[in-house]
This record gives sequence, C-alpha cells and structure tokens, in this order.
Amino acid sequence: MKPLLAPSILSADFGRLAEEVRAVEAAGAGLVHVDVMDGRFVPNITIGPVVVRAVRRATGLPLDCHLMVEDPDRWIEPFRAAGADSISVHVEAARHLDRTLRAIRGLGAKAGVVLNPATPHVAIEEVLPIVDFVLVMSVNPGFGGQAFLPSSLRKVRLLRERIDRERLPVAIEIDGGITHENVEDVVRAGADWVVAGHAVFGGGDAGGSTRLLVERLSAGARDRC
Ligand code: DX5
Ligand code: ZN
Repeated sequence: MKPLLAPSILSADFGRLAEEVRAVEAAGAGLVHVDVMDGRFVPNITIGPVVVRAVRRATGLPLDCHLMVEDPDRWIEPFRAAGADSISVHVEAARHLDRTLRAIRGLGAKAGVVLNPATPHVAIEEVLPIVDFVLVMSVNPGFGGQAFLPSSLRKVRLLRERIDRERLPVAIEIDGGITHENVEDVVRAGADWVVAGHAVFGGGDAGGSTRLLVERLSAGARDRC
C-alpha cells in the first residue's frame, strides 16, 4: 500500500481554510484529517459537521474524521452526512465498539478504531476483522503541535506484523507529532497513512511542507520493501 499523507486541518489557518486545503491537495496529500473534539473526551473543542460540509465543497480528497468525543454513537451519522469518507472512534470512548464500527460501515464510510498511547494494541484484537484502519496516537489527544511519543513505533510494528501475518485489509494510520525528521521512521515501522498538522500548516507554506513530507514518505516506503 502506497503511504499517504493526511494533513490535519486543526493546525490550518481557519480564516483561509479552503485555500489551505486546496494547497495540500495540489501538493500531493492523500487524505484530509479532521480532528473533532467535544471538550469532554479531550480538554479542547474544535470542529463540527458544518466545517466538514465546507471542507467537502473545497476538495475531492477523502475526509478522514477522527472523533475525539465522549459519545461517538451520537456523532457518526452527522459527520457522515456532512461528507466524511472515513470515521474513526476511540476504543476508550466506545461503550459498544463492535456495534459502533458496524454502524459506521453501515453508513457507507470506512471504519477506524483509535488507540491512545496508553492503550495496548491487543485492546482492539476482536474488532480487527471489522475495521478498515487502525489509528495509532503518537501524542495524547487534544492538541496539535505536541512532541512525538517514540513508544508508538513499537505499537505500529506489532500491528503491522499481525495485519500482514493474517493478510487483513487494514491500514495503519499514525497521528501526532509527525515531522519531516521522523516521517520515514513511522513508514518504515509500518504506517500507511500519516497525519501531520503543525508540520504541514505551521510554517506558512502548506504546499511546500506537504511536498517535502510526501517525498520523505515515499523514501520510507522504499526502505520498507
Ligand atoms: C491530536 C490530533 C492530531 C493532531 C496532529 O489530538 O488527533 O491529529 O492534530 O497534529 P500535529 O501533527 O501537529 O501533532
Ligand atoms: Zn487526529
């Protein structure tokens, strides 16, 4: 699977959001990562369905909605209706995870499950057969611009081994603290989709940063083969 860059719009300039999204699309991004926070599951409030609807009009890229919310069942339908192509929910927040993931697929979206840094990969053992991707957090969720947690690489490797051994059609997404310095490491460890917020939008040249990260992603993938 060719690794894809998923710029997180949380770090974008919201006064120029459509322009920023078009810039990363033109520069080779594969997905747009949308960080949804409710101020309860994480200590921050960010993006609702109305913003997803606006971003939907601005790009043809798949919209990858990461729900950091206390009650994911309440929100999967509104975000799918707003244009989300994939929806991920935290194993730590879903009381009935199997039912929630099946509901996401039932709405026609790709279903993802998210692991916080302290949650071992075995916590999602039972749902691997019914997800399209696993999102490994490499920061504690709630904010962009945090430092990468190197312990997440081991979790990516363990998941990669398990997924490859059983030939499961499951992508691995990694999220948090990715920069042009560590992006090759995470791809070599086995990540397929790589989220980057501050590294893309923090320097005032989203297109140039995207191109650099996409180049580094491809280099990491070559080492992996
Ligand atoms: C954190 C979010 C991440 C974050 C990524 O809770 O899930 O997607 O916005 O931003 P950076 O790449 O700046 O860590
Ligand atoms: Zn995220």
